[in-house]
Amino acid sequence: MTTRRNFIKKAALGTAAISFGGIIPGMSAKSYANVIGANDKIRVGAIGVNSRGTAVSTNFAKQKGCEVIYICDVDSRAIGKCINSIDQAVGYKPEGIKDLRKMVEKKDVDAVIIATPDHWHAPAALLAMQAGKNIYLEKPCSYAPAEGELLMQAAKKYNRVLQMGNQRRSWPNVCEGIQALKEGIIGKVYFGKSWYTNNRKPIGIGKEVPVPEWLDWELWQGPAPRVAYKDNIIHYNWHWFWHWGTGEALNNGTHMIDILRWGMEVDYPTMVNSAGGRYFAEDDWETPDTQIINIEFGNKFSMSWEGRSCNGRTIEGSSVGSMFYGEKGSLLITGSDGYKIFGLDNKLIKEQNSKIPIDPRNLMNPAEKLDAFHIQNFFDAIREGEKLHSDIESGHKSTLLMQLGNIAQRVGRSLRIDPTNGHILSDPEAMKLWSRDYEPGWEMII
Ligand SMILES: NC(=O)c1ccc[n+]([C@@H]2O[C@H](COP(=O)([O-])OP(=O)(O)OC[C@H]3O[C@@H](n4cnc5c(N)ncnc54)[C@H](O)[C@@H]3O)[C@@H](O)[C@H]2O)c1
Repeated sequence: MTTRRNFIKKAALGTAAISFGGIIPGMSAKSYANVIGANDKIRVGAIGVNSRGTAVSTNFAKQKGCEVIYICDVDSRAIGKCINSIDQAVGYKPEGIKDLRKMVEKKDVDAVIIATPDHWHAPAALLAMQAGKNIYLEKPCSYAPAEGELLMQAAKKYNRVLQMGNQRRSWPNVCEGIQALKEGIIGKVYFGKSWYTNNRKPIGIGKEVPVPEWLDWELWQGPAPRVAYKDNIIHYNWHWFWHWGTGEALNNGTHMIDILRWGMEVDYPTMVNSAGGRYFAEDDWETPDTQIINIEFGNKFSMSWEGRSCNGRTIEGSSVGSMFYGEKGSLLITGSDGYKIFGLDNKLIKEQNSKIPIDPRNLMNPAEKLDAFHIQNFFDAIREGEKLHSDIESGHKSTLLMQLGNIAQRVGRSLRIDPTNGHILSDPEAMKLWSRDYEPGWEMII
């Protein structure tokens, strides 16, 4: 387990080692020789930069020892916006490229950031690994569970570093809170509750219109079977269409359920169910705007996630959070980099807050300085073989919990799950949603 002090030390060490270009203390000459680009900058290409991708790639560019050299998007306007953002932040302009297949083949790229819509995450990550790149992959790591399993295999086969972008795994106070939990601060933990709330607006009824000149709709769709272009899909609203998106459960639930899974030290569940729907408005939005997913791990632990996309009433004073309940009290991980510990008598025992302000409802960049810890961990894994805070195996397990919740929601019943591998038991209809249909020629092949 990485403690907060270790963390800061590691982040500082990574930065210092990179900036002075010297051999990192404690590393043998042999391991140093094996390090990818140890003397050089890590050169990065960013894929999908309308919003989150611009925030993350600008953050990467600001890190010592990193240069963002390519910006890839199928929206020509997004490329321009991202190049300007990086130019303003660090004073150079990366090159723009439309087709990610060409970008991942570039010999001068060591790592790629993937911040496309969800249907592209796993296929793009696989292409990039096959081209020898390391990957910072935004959450959720996959659109469907079978894709997450393929990524786990591919990361081993191609021996690549793959960090999922659930950055709270690297926030110092969150780590400290989880450490305290594991050391028994609230005794045995047996229940976890997580949530996300927002005040999202309706998306209306889309009209079929000509594809705008700034967009390559064919490449935007990529692995997803072809449909007609409508005017209420791009950008961001694709989250609420099952064809490309994964709903609030994977959009925001992934972050908070991951914290519960981390703190409770559980892997695959035994039962998952879901209640909810699109209640707030009658429009094209298909995924639930209101949802409760319940997850059981044998008869030992359970956890839940509540999503309210269109009613932002907070829980425990926070629009987003994870709460652990144990024998001796409760521990809350707030939306910011902080935690609170309560006794069974409800009294606050300890509170740890971040001095860095965070807005969890900021869609693009809630916490740049904190996210830099996750980026530094990614660099340390590439340069020094450091353990990732969120490797693909861990990322897949957390993503899967929310995917199983969505599958239970869509088939309308509880799912029994094999706790050894997360697979759905005795339900062929539900298993159809384990993978997806691909546009012919775009299947993921390892
Ligand atoms: N970790 C976090 O806190 C966090 C925060 C926000 C978003 N995200 C994730 O980041 C991803 C992007 O979210 P967003 O809000 O920026 O979405 P968005 O729709 O605003 O942007 C996606 C971008 O990807 C581009 N794109 C689509 N297909 C592409 C392709 N084939 N090649 C290159 N570019 C392509 C789109 O044109 C668009 O510019 C999502 O998966 C989301 O879950 C993570």
